[in-house]
Amino acid sequence: FVPQRLAGRKVLMTAGPTFEPIDAVRGITNISSGKMGYALARACRDAGAEVTLVSGPTGLPCPEDVQRLDVGTAQEMYDAVLRHAGSADIFIGVAAVADYRVRNRAEHKLKKGDSVPVIELEENPDILATVASLPAAPFCVGFAAESRNLLEYADAKRRRKKVPLLVANLVQKAMGRDTNEVLLLDDAGSHALPEMDKQALAARLVEELAARLPPA
Ligand code: PMT
Repeated sequence: FVPQRLAGRKVLMTAGPTFEPIDAVRGITNISSGKMGYALARACRDAGAEVTLVSGPTGLPCPEDVQRLDVGTAQEMYDAVLRHAGSADIFIGVAAVADYRVRNRAEHKLKKGDSVPVIELEENPDILATVASLPAAPFCVGFAAESRNLLEYADAKRRRKKVPLLVANLVQKAMGRDTNEVLLLDDAGSHALPEMDKQALAARLVEELAARLPPA
């Protein structure tokens, strides 16, 4: 029996990596597997929420009774999220979104030639910061993946993106793995959770989220 802590609530979330094309066959991506986000989508569903999952390329099956919207680039993820943000009660950004995209993307496959191609980058929009600053913003939960200085960097990120709850993890402990070990950051401070299976952690995160949620 799972307590229906999110009954009647609409959860919008992102998961997985994004893929920023360089040319017709190549691109910039990262090693997010989507496992953490998909586990959280299942946990929110099990807690009674209506879940919309905007997913980058992962190869994972769509969780039952979850509406999945497949996207490739960060801009596509941004567009899909912003289309649904107005009707969401909760937004959870689990995706590892590319901060930059290729400005000089080639339409066809680049040919090996005399000179080495130069890839120019430009900034992608910040999905979480944009949703958190909407006039009628849903309750926002962010994630932060760092490879060092976890608490310091994640705390700065939570303040910059203005989210009430942020889940911080070390990339070495989180990305691509079946388990994770996180720090929870909110206005009251930080709180460590022990290493556990991602599905068990997702259930725990739903409890933490539900406890902070303003009444419907
Ligand atoms: O997918 P797994 O293999 O299971 O790994 C899980 C995970 C490590 C990817 C996950 O637990 C996690 O930490 N996700 C956030 C990864 C990340 O890249 O975070 P960030 O520190 O770059 O971004 C901070 C927050 O802003 C995140 O909520 C991110 O979704 C969001 N963001 C970032 C950039 C951007 N342009 N738009 C965003 O919304």
